[in-house]
Amino acid sequence: MSDKIYIFDTTLRDGEQSPGATMNTNEKLRLARQLERLGVDVIEAGFPIASLGDFQAVEKIALNVKGVQIAGLARANPKDIETAWEAIKKAEAPRIHTFIATSPIHMEQKLRMPPEKVLEAAKEAVKLAKKFTSNVQFSAEDAGRSDIDFLCRVTEEVIKAGAITVNIPDTVGYTLPDEFGERIKYLMENVPNIHQAVISVHCHNDLGLAVANSLAAVRNGARQVECTINGIGERAGNASLEEIVMAIRTRADILNCHTDVNTQEIFASSRLVTHITGIIVQPNKAVVGANAFAHEAGIHQDGMLKDKRTYEIMTPESIGATVTPLVLGKHSGSHAFKIRLEELGYHLEQSDIDRVFSKFKELTDKKKEIFEDDLHALVAEEVFRVGEKYRLEFLTVLSGYGLIPTATVVLEIDGEMKQLAGFGSGPIDAVFNTIAKLTTTRAKLLRFAVNAITGGTDAQGEVTVRIEEDGIIVIGQGSDPDIISASAKAYINALNRLDYIKNNPRIKA
Ligand code: KIV
Ligand code: ZN
Repeated sequence: MSDKIYIFDTTLRDGEQSPGATMNTNEKLRLARQLERLGVDVIEAGFPIASLGDFQAVEKIALNVKGVQIAGLARANPKDIETAWEAIKKAEAPRIHTFIATSPIHMEQKLRMPPEKVLEAAKEAVKLAKKFTSNVQFSAEDAGRSDIDFLCRVTEEVIKAGAITVNIPDTVGYTLPDEFGERIKYLMENVPNIHQAVISVHCHNDLGLAVANSLAAVRNGARQVECTINGIGERAGNASLEEIVMAIRTRADILNCHTDVNTQEIFASSRLVTHITGIIVQPNKAVVGANAFAHEAGIHQDGMLKDKRTYEIMTPESIGATVTPLVLGKHSGSHAFKIRLEELGYHLEQSDIDRVFSKFKELTDKKKEIFEDDLHALVAEEVFRVGEKYRLEFLTVLSGYGLIPTATVVLEIDGEMKQLAGFGSGPIDAVFNTIAKLTTTRAKLLRFAVNAITGGTDAQGEVTVRIEEDGIIVIGQGSDPDIISASAKAYINALNRLDYIKNNPRIKA
């Protein structure tokens, strides 16, 4: 039997550190449930000390998501570690993940601590965490640029202190695959107690090498890989989970290892991260991009018709990327609808099902075929966005040749209905101006993008907006067959995210 590679998903923690990717508690819980279906081994649910919102989200995930380890991040100090434990302690299998930087530049300039003090803090942090749980992971931040012999000492000492996983991050995405692989090999050969812990890697993508570096580490003995769905994360992102998992599966002949990920849930997980964060996957992205299985050149199409293996090294089915219409339509009853939702992983309260069902019926009047993605969008709109500061109640727009585009908007703001009419240079401009006045926002619109989430002229439009206020950048997303309504929803979603961040200021890792 080949070795198992543990998949540690950090979409909810490092992924959320992507500019604009803030998620609220309900969104995080929904994503955590999908990660559980995906079959990852560890979900890093957040950084509990960072804000009250982070703490509550981690706690909720720990309470509600079973069958997977739940990790909480903590710097190497007692307050962080105690807070992380408070947030995860009710999980079925909690893990404390504590870290401190070990590179000269981080120790001298950021921590202003000499190496001996850093080593001491690392040991103390692990010892304290061990008082709460045996499942303790230690990370040597910026290990990619750390002195290798100091890194060996830190690794040996934290294992002695009780760490059962030691993570070697390439925090700034600086190393090259051979070099990073050598680093892991050196640790494996020079740390006497290395076999008492699982060696993990956590690679950032600043030079586009995060996946290559992670795989080089696996070839040299790493047995846990930290990664995120769609590769989202701080700056250029983290190693992408789908690429790691599919590389390990497709090249098992060379890598000689396996993961327990249910690859057929990859596409749904990728779509969900896009829905929640509004960060769209580039079409040519490996594994989950829209063109990943498209064959344009005639010679390729000819080959595909003769034998798919000529140009296909993995199938779209293997990642669950098959666009099948729902077997549901205009005449379906609410019971069949509920069962379909459950098949898609939504176990909702009856009142939520009723609300989504009534919107589904409205959609069947507007659209010929309903796809799974449409249903995901409906659930996102109707269930996971409730409880926010701003909610769109009503919208009409008047526009046409010779008319001044005019919008009338009714918003529920903190439970109170407010209405206003306003003008603009086009219909969307009129809607945005009116919403801006109603919410009294100072946020600047940085980007506006429209995408069709399912094919045909009756497709649902998916709008993404990016706004900025006082240096805080957020992304909002909305979908609707009516592109103007989708735009209004996206703008309001962004304003809700901004409001959430302003009320939950985070500290940096
Ligand atoms: O990139 C990094 O070093 C991290 C650590 C906290 C693991 O995210
Ligand atoms: Zn990181």
